[in-house]
Amino acid sequence: MGPLNLLTALALSVCCHVQFATAWTVNNFLMTGPKAFLTYASSVQVGAQSGIQECKQQFAWERWNCPESTLQLSTHNGLRSATRETSFVHAISAAGVMYTLTKNCSMGDFENCGCDDSRIGQTGGRGWIWGGCSDNVAFGEKISKQFVDALEGGHDSRAAVNLHNNEAGRLAVKGTMRKACKCHGVSGSCSIQTCWMQLADFREVGNYLKKKHEQAKKLEMDKKPARAGNSADNRGGIAHAFRGIPRTELIYLEDSPDYCLKNQSMGFQGTEGRECLKGNKNMSQWERKSCRRLCYECGLRVVEKRIAVVSSCNCKFHWCCTVRCDKCTQIVTKYYCARKESGRKQHNKAKRRHRGRRH
Ligand SMILES: *[C@@H]1O[C@H](CO)[C@@H](O)[C@H](O)[C@H]1NC(C)=O
Ligand SMILES: *[C@@H]1O[C@H](CO)[C@@H](O)[C@H](O)[C@H]1NC(C)=O
Ligand SMILES: *[C@@H]1O[C@H](CO)[C@@H](O)[C@H](O)[C@H]1NC(C)=O
Repeated sequence: MGPLNLLTALALSVCCHVQFATAWTVNNFLMTGPKAFLTYASSVQVGAQSGIQECKQQFAWERWNCPESTLQLSTHNGLRSATRETSFVHAISAAGVMYTLTKNCSMGDFENCGCDDSRIGQTGGRGWIWGGCSDNVAFGEKISKQFVDALEGGHDSRAAVNLHNNEAGRLAVKGTMRKACKCHGVSGSCSIQTCWMQLADFREVGNYLKKKHEQAKKLEMDKKPARAGNSADNRGGIAHAFRGIPRTELIYLEDSPDYCLKNQSMGFQGTEGRECLKGNKNMSQWERKSCRRLCYECGLRVVEKRIAVVSSCNCKFHWCCTVRCDKCTQIVTKYYCARKESGRKQHNKAKRRHRGRRH
């Protein structure tokens, strides 16, 4: 079987129950049956998609920008690596799936699931009691785990790392939840409040995991080769390597490649041709440095291009009831990374400079 990404894997499982049939329907969905499986599967896909979208957003101005070609979460791809970046992909996908399932539950999209009312009526703290609709993360966690973790078939250190990062993603959804309250009492005196726990915006989960990506820890596996045929030995080694790493932290096994460079076999395009941002006071520090990060530090130069953008303008309301607009053409300047004319020599020099700074 060729490379398989999470979305196609999930799509496959929906249509054909191919290789996941044993893992899912038999073990996890025996009690609820294929109907429940199908009910959740579409939400799982929506959730995985929103995770990938968030990944693209979070890494829009980074050298590695969450390209489709690297979103292979399945174990069936022989090339798969376990870098800092794939750890983020695992976490944000798992988080997206859990998030969507939880939201669906609160919205009443599933018959067998509703708000978490386990604490309703209890006193939460001074002046407030539990009420309203707390998002049912326990449900989202349980179902998403069954779907997403089942994609990980192996028992090696990579599989263990991927499962750990999936878990970190789900914990991010929980960890960013917050309390929301409503006032009660005589004419809005707010003498008593009812409060519930709700999911943060998914963007916040993305921001949280992006920080975890920056702080990700490299798992130091024992370099001694495991004795041939003794897999129990190897498992002991994996467990040992994981000791002391909090479940909330992202971990990886391999250092990231140089994302400045194109590497077809790994599915990286390099940064040549990428857009970067310049000259807007409003931009964040991160955006303002995008040309440096994507172009200059990769031994490329920045070229300016003027691009015509057509939009609607001068819209007028005509009685009754139409709106007519003109088409206005605006010339905007955009910036892109391009190869230097003089070619290789400069590139190597710049790369060395950049490497020197990093170490
Ligand atoms: C779950 O929510 C997503 C978007 O939030 C929606 O597209 C999907 O249809 C929902 N699933 C169900 C079963 O209603
Ligand atoms: C692409 O990446 C692989 C794996 O890291 C490496 O072995 C190979 O040399 C790279 N190819 C190029 C052209 O950099
Ligand atoms: C800067 O941001 C403010 C508020 O977000 C906005 O009103 C303003 O138009 C922006 N200026 C530019 C040059 O983009």
